[in-house]
Amino acid sequence: MTLTRLLAGAALSALLATAAQAQTYTIGFSQVGSEGDWRPAFSRNMQEQAAAYGVDLKFADAQGKQEEQLRAVRAFIAQDVDAIIIAPVVVTGWEDVLQEAKDAEIPVFLVDRDVDVADKSLYATRISADFNLEGRLAGAWLAQESLRDCRIVEMQSTTGSAPAIERKGGFEAVIGQFPGMEIVQTQSGEFTTEGGKRVMEAFIKATNNLEGICAAFAHNDNMQLGAIQAMKEAGLNPGEDVLMVSVDYVPAIVTAMEAGDANASVELRSAVAEFIYPVVTGYLENPTELDKWIVIPSDLHVAN
Ligand code: AHR
Repeated sequence: MTLTRLLAGAALSALLATAAQAQTYTIGFSQVGSEGDWRPAFSRNMQEQAAAYGVDLKFADAQGKQEEQLRAVRAFIAQDVDAIIIAPVVVTGWEDVLQEAKDAEIPVFLVDRDVDVADKSLYATRISADFNLEGRLAGAWLAQESLRDCRIVEMQSTTGSAPAIERKGGFEAVIGQFPGMEIVQTQSGEFTTEGGKRVMEAFIKATNNLEGICAAFAHNDNMQLGAIQAMKEAGLNPGEDVLMVSVDYVPAIVTAMEAGDANASVELRSAVAEFIYPVVTGYLENPTELDKWIVIPSDLHVAN
C-alpha cells in the first residue's frame, strides 16, 4: 500500500467515523511499556485518537515484560475483543498466543516492533517504521561525516527486540562497506537515559576517555541523552569531540542538537494512530488479505 493511499484512507476513515458515528470496535492494545520519551508519546497518540476512529481502546502497559504482554493478550481473547494490537517487546515466543487469537478468530495487528514466527498467517499485518533503514540512514550519515574513517561506540537497545536487531543490522551493513569504520565497543542501554549514561561511563573507562573514538551510535535518543551527560561529566564535548547519532528525534534530542551536543537523529514518528487505526478498522469492516508489512516513513535530521 502506498503512503498516499494510506493517508487518503486515514483521512477518509477518520471523517466517516466522526461524521456518521460509525460502529465502535473494541480493540485491545498491548504496549511494551513507557521507557524513554518516544513510547509514552506513541501511547498518548493511540489513546487520544481512538474515539475519532470509532475505537474503544483497552490499553495494557506491559512494563517491558513479555510475560505481561502474553497475559494481556490472553485477557483480550477472553473478553472477545474485535481485534488485538501488539507492540511486541521481543521478537521470539509469540507462536502459542498468536495461535490462540487465531483460533478465537480475533485478528492481530503488530505495530512498531516485529515478531519472528514462521507462520505469517498468525497476524494480519505489521504497521511500523523500517528499523533497518533507520540504521542504514544513521550509518550513511556517519560514513559521509567521518570521511569513512571512524571508530564507533554503540549503545544497543533491548536484547532480542526488533529495533536492536534491525537497527544494528542496517548500521553494520553500511559501515561494513568501509574498512576504516568499525564498532569497537557495544552494550545494551535498554532504551533509557540512565542505561545510556551507565553504558557510556563504561565506554569512557574502557577507552581511556574515548581516546580515538570518532562517534557514538545509540539505538534511541534517550540513551544518547544519557551518554551526553556522562561525557560532559568526564569533561568531554559530545557533538564536537565525538559525533553523536541516534534514533527517534524526540524533543529533548532536538534541544541537544540545537545546543551542539548531538549531531543527527533519525525520526521515528510517534503520531502513528492515523496509520494504524484505518488499517485495523478497514480490515474489521472488510477482512481481506493485507500486505504483511505496511511501512511508515523515517527521515534523517541533521543539526545545523
Ligand atoms: O521500538 C521502537 C523503540 O522503542 C524506540 O526507538 C525507543 O525509543 C522505544 O523504546
